[in-house]
Order: sequence, then structure tokens, then C-alpha cells
Amino acid sequence: MYDSAMVSRRELPDREQRVAALKTAGYNVFGLSAADVYIDLLTDSGTGTMSTDQWAALLGGDESYAGSESFERLEQAVTDVLGFERIVPAHQGRGAEHLLYGALVDDGDVVVANTHFDTTRAHVAEAGGRPADCPVVDAFDTDAAGPFKGNLDIEAARERAAAVGADRVPAVVVTLTNNSVAGQPVSVENVRRARAVADEFDARLIIDGCRFAENAWFVREREPGFEETPIPAIVREQLAPADAVVVSGKKDGLVNVGGFITVGDDEDDLFGRLRERAILYEGFYTYGGMAGRDMAAMAVGLREAVDPGYLDHRIGQVRTLADMLERRDVPVYRPVGGHAVYVDAGVALPHIPREQFPGQALVCAAYREGGVRGVELGGFAFPGTDRPEFVRLALPRRRYHREHLEHVAETVGAAVDRGTALSGLEVVSQPDREALRHFSATLRPVD
Ligand SMILES: Cc1ncc(COP(=O)(O)O)c(C=O)c1O
Repeated sequence: MYDSAMVSRRELPDREQRVAALKTAGYNVFGLSAADVYIDLLTDSGTGTMSTDQWAALLGGDESYAGSESFERLEQAVTDVLGFERIVPAHQGRGAEHLLYGALVDDGDVVVANTHFDTTRAHVAEAGGRPADCPVVDAFDTDAAGPFKGNLDIEAARERAAAVGADRVPAVVVTLTNNSVAGQPVSVENVRRARAVADEFDARLIIDGCRFAENAWFVREREPGFEETPIPAIVREQLAPADAVVVSGKKDGLVNVGGFITVGDDEDDLFGRLRERAILYEGFYTYGGMAGRDMAAMAVGLREAVDPGYLDHRIGQVRTLADMLERRDVPVYRPVGGHAVYVDAGVALPHIPREQFPGQALVCAAYREGGVRGVELGGFAFPGTDRPEFVRLALPRRRYHREHLEHVAETVGAAVDRGTALSGLEVVSQPDREALRHFSATLRPVD
């Protein structure tokens, strides 16, 4: 349980204002002013509330350019919590990915993953590589039961790697939990098997561990043999097989900004290459684009994230929201994942064809109905794929209370109730990089 140490006032703009704001934003909620949003479930990344201990640490931040005490505290926290000693900080997750994949991937390489997150995919491609997704077969089946639907399909990964040959596979990547697959967890067993595949192809095993604590919570709940294992021990065990772990601190670092890469045994000096790239792209290798105060806050946040009481509260909230939505007949992805509820807009609004973006129509309707901002992660965000028409309602950490969840369920329920009164959308303008279009494209309702 948490009580509030600081509050901010929110007003729900009236319907007329919401309708106008949406139109001005080009029916893309990324274009809304946050002041016009009542409850913001756009992302769980960097949007949580820090604890009083984190604020206290922040005030003691050491802003030395090199060798700051705040960096040393962060280094120690990473060693204690994640079990790795060498760390290269970065300004956030994608900064860390830029360092890592730029150091590992060459033109024409193939990187195999359980499912690349958008920025991971973009950085692998930017370095000249081809990202190959190998999710398990029922990953996108919104009703299939399964304890670890975020897993890497080991056989598929082996086949993809074999098809290009060992010298063309620099890395096998496992993202836990799997954000692109409805926040589903990955088992420790699967990470170990991914290690074996990496070894067969002389590749690095990389873990995207930005939700390392949430994943460990699911392992304790579901993986045989871990029922009695403390969360901190599971965290270390699930990460131990990796050669490197890349982390956006904006998730289980419980901070608003920051990230890092941490490297294990290091035969060919990956750590040295990452430090060099950090100096070039992020900042000196003991701050990497983060202020000392932000490193100090993250050092505390990493330790707080493995507190089982915190995780029960966190994942409990996500489940509560899913249950509330289902009671309002909103179709949600089951099992519920770690950081968000994924609504299936294809089922909710079957009259809107995929090319008119039912997910985006639902996102816009939820904003119009009650000022709730979610994000589309279906045919609009991932053109050319057959992913379900997901709308993600991501819960910021330690920020909202039950009354917020009730408002969200009422609002999304009311949006779905509008049914055939809701129309689809068409793209008016979009950036050259189609893969990133959902951030900045503009749309309009189809007549
Ligand atoms: C799995 C995963 N990897 C990487 C990132 C990128 O992190 P950042 O937003 O800090 O750049 C995210 C952000 O949402 C993520 O969910």
C-alpha cells in the first residue's frame, strides 16, 4: 500500500474541449497536450511516482563529471539487484540500445528475438541488421491460456539462425516481460534454453530486462520450482545466463529517466567498446547522459522494485483493471500481463475494417468519452503485420488509485458501447519511417 507524499490537481476538460483537442491533434493522442488528459495510460515508461526515499537520494545527487558517488551507488545497486558488475549508463533505454546494437551488429546480420520492441527493432535495423521475431505460436491468441506466452520459440529461433549461419547471428535477444506480446512473462527455463541457442551459433545472449522485477513476480507465481524462491534471487537467476542486460530505468528502475547496459563475462571486451561508444553518443561512461541525481534516484528505485509488497500492489492493479473492464464487456487479452491491460479492439469494434484502424478508433473514443489516453498497438502502429488490434492501457507505477481505475473502466466501457456509431480513421500524413508512424502520423475519420 502507498499513501501520497505529493499530489497534482487534474481537471477533466468538458466534452466539447476534448472533441476539439482530438481534432487539433490529428486524431493521434500523442499530439494531445497532457493538460487535456484526465488519466494518462499512454505508457508505463518514466511516468510513475518516486518514493520519498528516492527524492531524498535525488537531493544528494553528485554531479561530478567523472567517477561521481551517485554513479558508484548505481553500480552497487545493479550489482546487488541484477548480479552484474560492469555497467554503462545511458540517457534511457533506446540510448543503451544504440550503444549495444551499434557495437554488436554488422550489415546483413540477423538478430533473433522473442519479439523485438519497437526501439530495439529500429536500432538493430539502424546498425544494418535484420530483426527476426520468434514468439511462441499462441503469443497473439488473445484467449489462449499459458503461463509464459512471452517466451522465445526455441525451435523457430534455431531455424532462423541456422538459415543464415553462425557468423551472421551476433545476438539472441530475450525481452522480459515481452512488451510487444501483451506484457507476457518469460520463464527462467526459456532464458536458459535461449542461452543454449546462442551458444550453438556463437552469439551473445542479450536480455532486455527493463521489467526484470515484474517478470520475476510471474516466475514465482507460475514456474515450477520457484514458488518459494525470493524475488531478488529469481531476478538474479533469470538474468544470469545473459552476456549483457539492457535496461530502460523508466520501468523497473522506478525513475522518470535513465537507463544502462550491464555486461557479464566479457571475452572480447564488449564493455570497453560500449564505454567508448558512450563517450561518443551519451556522455562520459560514469554518467552516460544522466544527471547524478537521476542515477542516485535509480539506485534506490532498483532496490524498491524487488520488494514483493510493491510487486503485489503493482501487478494486482493491472489485474483489477482487467477485471473491471471485463465486467463492462470490454474484451481483454488473457492472461493479463505485467504492466498493462491490452484491449482487443478487433473484437470490440468488428464493424471497422483493419485498414480503418479499429484500435485507433477506440483510443480516440476513450479520450472523447472520459479523457483517458491509451495507445493503439495494432494495424496502425505495426503496418504490414497481422497482430491483433490491440489498445494498450499501461499503468504508471504507484501513480493511480482505485477510483482512477474505475473511471477508466467506465470510460472504455462507454466507448465500446457506442459500437457502430464509431467510425474508422484514415491516415492524412505520416513520416517516412512507417515503422514509427503511430508517434506522429495524423488521421481523420472516414465518412
Ligand atoms: C521492452 C522495451 N525495451 C526498450 C524500451 C525503450 O526504452 P526507453 O523508452 O527508455 O528508450 C522500452 C520502452 O518502452 C521497452 O518497453
